[in-house]
Formats: sequence, structure tokens, C-alpha cells
Amino acid sequence: MKPFNAHTERLLRAALPRTCLIFDVGCGNGEIAFWLAENCGHTVYGVDPRLPLPRGYWHSVTDLSRGEVRLMNGHVESLNPDHKFDCVLALGLLHSLGGRGAVDTMLGRLCQWTKPGALLALSWLSSTRSSSKRHYGVYHPTEDEVLSRLANFGASLQCTWNADIIHSDGGTHCHRAVYALWRTEHTT
Ligand SMILES: C[S@@+](CC[C@H](N)C(=O)[O-])C[C@H]1O[C@@H](n2cnc3c(N)ncnc32)[C@H](O)[C@@H]1O
Repeated sequence: MKPFNAHTERLLRAALPRTCLIFDVGCGNGEIAFWLAENCGHTVYGVDPRLPLPRGYWHSVTDLSRGEVRLMNGHVESLNPDHKFDCVLALGLLHSLGGRGAVDTMLGRLCQWTKPGALLALSWLSSTRSSSKRHYGVYHPTEDEVLSRLANFGASLQCTWNADIIHSDGGTHCHRAVYALWRTEHTT
């Protein structure tokens, strides 16, 4: 089974037309990174504080049938980029950062990791309709806010779409998810 929904699959297909070097920021348990390596032959770096690995070291997995995965348990803010990537993914990340300042900083960092002309693929929850306390106070960046911030960094929007996603965990509620793809500036 694919570790992503049909909307994310559409985003990944648009973002990853050929074998490339990918950074999956907020990669969760690494499922998407492994899928992209094994099924498409990409080399994928992933970072997430929830990875069940000792903190702060890159762990390479090279014995896959295709591709390669390198994972680090950590917050992406603690990394200094020493690589530039053909594609940077941040799937489901922006709404878990806590506030506008953190989102702005993160968008700047994501651009820093891209090669000139590379692809930046994002998905996030732009709103939630819920009466659950769990969702109260969560900061949901609007689409306009993210678009305007990335335009300031010189990234050009390639495509964007929305999907309403209904969940039943924690009481039935509805998320408005945004899926969008940018190409970064060709000159640095
Ligand atoms: C909704 S999950 C998405 C996981 C995965 N990208 C996917 O689409 O299945 C968001 C992930 O972002 C991670 N995350 C939140 N803040 C982060 C940060 N500052 N640096 C790295 N990862 C972060 C969380 O630990 C969580 O695993």
C-alpha cells in the first residue's frame, strides 16, 4: 500500500519526474522516503524528531533494491544545510510549527536547501472545522500567507489545489488541506 493519499500522490508525481536527490522535511517515520527510494530510485534524506533513532546522527540505509535513504532524528531548525536538493518535500509540516514566525522561518530554510530551479512540494492544513479541544489554538497558515512568503523568496508557483478531508478520530472534523508545488529561482 502507498503511504500517502491520492492528493499527495498527485503532488509527488508533479514534483519528481526523474531520479533525484530529495530532502523530506518532517518525514514522520520515513515511510514516504523509503517508498520514493524503493519504487522510484531516488536518494532521500529525511529528518523528524519522531524517528525511532538515536538523536542527531545521519543513518544511511543502502541495502534497498533501488535508491537510498538517510534519516536523522532531530528538528530541522538545528541543521545547517551542507547539501542542496533537486526537490524538497514538507508534507503535513507547516501547521505543526505553532505560529506565523516559525512558518516564515521554515519557508526560508526550505528554499535554502533547494538547488536553483529545484522543486518545493508542500502540503498543510490551512483550516480545521472541529469542536475538539485538541484542535483549539492550532495555527493553520493560510494559502495566501504561504504563497506571498515564497514569492518573496523568488519561488514561482507551479500548481496548487485544495481538498477537504474528513476525519473521525477525536470527534468528526474537517480539514482544508492545501497541496502546492513551486520551482525555486534559477539563479542564487
Ligand atoms: C503530519 S506529520 C507528516 C509526516 C509525513 N511528512 C507524512 O506526510 O506522512 C508532521 C511531521 O512533522 C514533524 N515535525 C514537526 N516539526 C518539525 C520540525 N521542526 N522539524 C522536523 N520535523 C518536524 C512531526 O514530528 C511529524 O512527524
